[in-house]
Amino acid sequence: MTKDMSTLLVERQAASLNRKVFIKTYGCQMNVYDSQRMGDALAKDGYQPTEVMEEADLVLLNTCHIREKAAEKVYSTLGRLRDLKKLNAANGREMTIGVAGCVAQAEGAEILRRAPSVDLVVGPQTYHRLPDLLKRARGGERVVETEYPPEDKFEHLPAAAPAVTRQRGVSAFLTVQEGCDKFCTFCVVPYTRGAEVSRPLDQVVAEAERLAAAGVREITLLGQNVNAWHGTDASGRALGLGDLLRRLSRIEGVARLRYTTSHPRDMDDSLIEAHRDLKTLMPYLHLPVQSGSDRILKAMNRRHTAEDYVALIQRIRAARPDIALSGDFIVGFPGETEADFAATLRLIEAVGYAQAYSFKYSIRPGTPGADLPGHLAEEVKAERLERLQALLMAQQQAFARDCIGREIDLLLEKPGRMDGQMIGRSPWLQSVFVDAKASQIGDIVRVRITGAGPNSLSADVVSAGAQQKES
Ligand code: 5AD
Ligand code: SF4
Repeated sequence: MTKDMSTLLVERQAASLNRKVFIKTYGCQMNVYDSQRMGDALAKDGYQPTEVMEEADLVLLNTCHIREKAAEKVYSTLGRLRDLKKLNAANGREMTIGVAGCVAQAEGAEILRRAPSVDLVVGPQTYHRLPDLLKRARGGERVVETEYPPEDKFEHLPAAAPAVTRQRGVSAFLTVQEGCDKFCTFCVVPYTRGAEVSRPLDQVVAEAERLAAAGVREITLLGQNVNAWHGTDASGRALGLGDLLRRLSRIEGVARLRYTTSHPRDMDDSLIEAHRDLKTLMPYLHLPVQSGSDRILKAMNRRHTAEDYVALIQRIRAARPDIALSGDFIVGFPGETEADFAATLRLIEAVGYAQAYSFKYSIRPGTPGADLPGHLAEEVKAERLERLQALLMAQQQAFARDCIGREIDLLLEKPGRMDGQMIGRSPWLQSVFVDAKASQIGDIVRVRITGAGPNSLSADVVSAGAQQKES
């Protein structure tokens, strides 16, 4: 069967059943990727996507458990959904409600107890079983599936039909690794996503080739601990993320590669050399450090010091001088003193970040951090977060201002706010507004940065469409 025929078949099947699914995604980019793959699996099962919750036959919440606020949001949405489900039932329409993602994994059957309108709870490892689970849920059973099945979810999730992949634009995510064995004491990920697992080389290459064939120019490799990725080549030689990036950079049409999120302990020499050698590997690195205090880093079980981190950054910058750094920070970890916090500010000054994400410590039940002494008052955390964010924001703006006058390659992604305007991505992941035509989406154009706003840059085209591939 040709690819187009299979697409047609999927579309016809979906139209004949005429069921609609609304998927709401919370949290990280891996959830975004998982939601797309669930959407693909459901399309094959006759569900068409809808953006309108009210008209959906199936509402699926793909949830996040990383901080308390994220987890609680799910229950307030479920409260609203309960009313909608009742209203639909009064009009003779059935609505199935499913909870997926990390809250599903962490809370399981507890969700059914707290939210009686939920029909299905499914953890991140069993999305490939979704069509079967839904059949059971539609039959009236309240289904909870949070086991770690022996089969590999990625191998069993269907690949998206080419037409669907094409709609996803020129930049795509590709999960290469899932789970985490690091057990930072604040973090739920090792419990919700399980042990570290890498997708085999062949599977990753095949998916990247499929994306490239569908017009994707930029691929971001995803993993909770992506630089712990490991595999083997055909002759059984051990490979790391640096090798994987080298292999993927040879795929025709893939102009840009990125990866996220990394742990400092797994930045090996081969990966640093990949930053030096590969033009396709963008000069941007998200490398969370969480704190600049050795005492707190130890209590967090990060297994490196502030000095180790700064030395690592120096090695990475020596390999790729134009690299932009991004990080994650937690303020108010149990026992954090004003002196510990000052050490974090000093580390930020020493590194200089182009971008950063920062959070107040949030107690996660079941993690070792929850049981530590010395939890801080909410006001202390809020006040420290404010000071930290002021510094990070100043650095981010300084980085953006520094870009003015530079000539860079811009990947055109989507239309801008005004007619004749497009939004592209800089190598450093900034959004850049430029005058260009919609037909140029997917092109990499040479531009000169002319201005810097709070969240985006503006630029003039130097020579359009000259470059199709950056290597
Ligand atoms: N409280 C606050 N922030 C957290 N993160 C993870 N767990 C917690 C927590 N319990 C942050 C870390 C991590 C990012 C994804 O979320 O900074 O790198
Ligand atoms: Fe969580 Fe990242 Fe630490 Fe793993 S390395 S436990 S995902 S913060």
